[in-house]
Amino acid sequence: MSKFVINGGNKLVGEIDISCAKNSLLTILAGCILSEGEIVLHKYPSYTDTECMCNILKHLGAKIKKEGEVLVVDSSSLNSFDIPTELACLVRSSIFALGAIIGKFKKAKVAYPGGCEIGARPIDIHLSGLRQLGVKITERHGYIYCDGKDMHSATIMLDFPSVGATENLIMASVLTKGETVIYNCAKEPEIVDLQEFLNLLGAKISGAGTEKIVINGVAKLGGGEFTPIRDRIVAGTYMIACAMCGGDISLNGANPEHLQSVITKLNKTACQIEASCDKIRVKSDGKPLSLKKIETSVYPGIPTDLQAQLLALQCVSNGSCMIIENLFESRFKHVPELIKMGADIHLRDRVAFVRGVPKLFGAEVFGMDLRGTASLILAGLCAEGYSVVNNARHIDRGYNRIERELSSLGADIKRVD
Ligand code: UD1
Repeated sequence: MSKFVINGGNKLVGEIDISCAKNSLLTILAGCILSEGEIVLHKYPSYTDTECMCNILKHLGAKIKKEGEVLVVDSSSLNSFDIPTELACLVRSSIFALGAIIGKFKKAKVAYPGGCEIGARPIDIHLSGLRQLGVKITERHGYIYCDGKDMHSATIMLDFPSVGATENLIMASVLTKGETVIYNCAKEPEIVDLQEFLNLLGAKISGAGTEKIVINGVAKLGGGEFTPIRDRIVAGTYMIACAMCGGDISLNGANPEHLQSVITKLNKTACQIEASCDKIRVKSDGKPLSLKKIETSVYPGIPTDLQAQLLALQCVSNGSCMIIENLFESRFKHVPELIKMGADIHLRDRVAFVRGVPKLFGAEVFGMDLRGTASLILAGLCAEGYSVVNNARHIDRGYNRIERELSSLGADIKRVD
């Protein structure tokens, strides 16, 4: 089992290219199911989550080639409409393929997505939306069976602006005749990216990024070339790393508009942030001020995917902070591990009360989920002495060789297999 060994205390200086967004890629790969042409994705990084999604596409009959940073997907000969348990349990976003499979085949058999480390993550909003599109759904023996032969356009109001449900319902509607309108949509940049990608292939979608999305069904989708947006969570993680360790880093390709809530918070910790349209520069003396209160919410609020990293930042601030996790119920598994490093944190349900300490100390800790593991790496980077962060596999789900990128900024971090 691979782990990271970190000798903390180095400032971070230099520049890195931010890779494409994992969450965009996952939904874009699902979108490839709808196409009958060849799709070329540029700047394609190596995340294990996207590899799992590629394996699902291959199981459905897609031909996939990867050459360097280019991924070519040919879905013209898809011949299967099921996702078996062994594939679905590897990546929760397998459920994102459901809408596309029904859209394409008008039927689907998909195993329930695997258990998730950050909470129950129900899919009732996805299924309710599909039912409103005329899909008949039965659930038995761990599988969701969908019959879409009577599918039709609809007006759908989501109970909550779920990212996955918004994306799934867009994909289910793209090849469904008529005009489908979805209200109370999630507004995340990855949804705008999905719209741009599908429209490039010939879809007629408008409104992504707002609470109302309109999809006019088309007969088929072709191919095309696309470069997904950069990963705002990866960029945010490195910004917070710099705020904790001190230094001066530039993140090329990062879109500051996607990180406005985080930039506002980091400015309050006394970081200096310069932003242009595709670059963010962070300068910090490594002595962050306390933020008093951080509350996760849907976009454009503070992303839940940066809660763990912001919590680590507050562990070394000059005061107290209350961190409220509003999206997922079990997203504080990093807390006991940070306490092993000397952090002062008290948990009550979905609220963490953090009191900053002058220094964290190196310790052996265990990553429990993707973003929690990132927070432990950040803590290790600014702690005194050596830390061992076990379960490196969690990080590989959504960071492209994090140790290589952090080393290039001057961090002392090695992966040990
Ligand atoms: C996506 C992101 C994930 C991010 C999350 C919130 C991907 C691949 N993943 O996950 O990184 O943390 O958005 O920004 O893009 N919910 C229901 N019923 C449903 C669907 C969701 O109750 O049918 C609840 C969830 O349990 C959660 C909240 O809605 O409490 C938000 O979930 P959602 O926006 O759907 O997140 P995901 O799409 O799973």
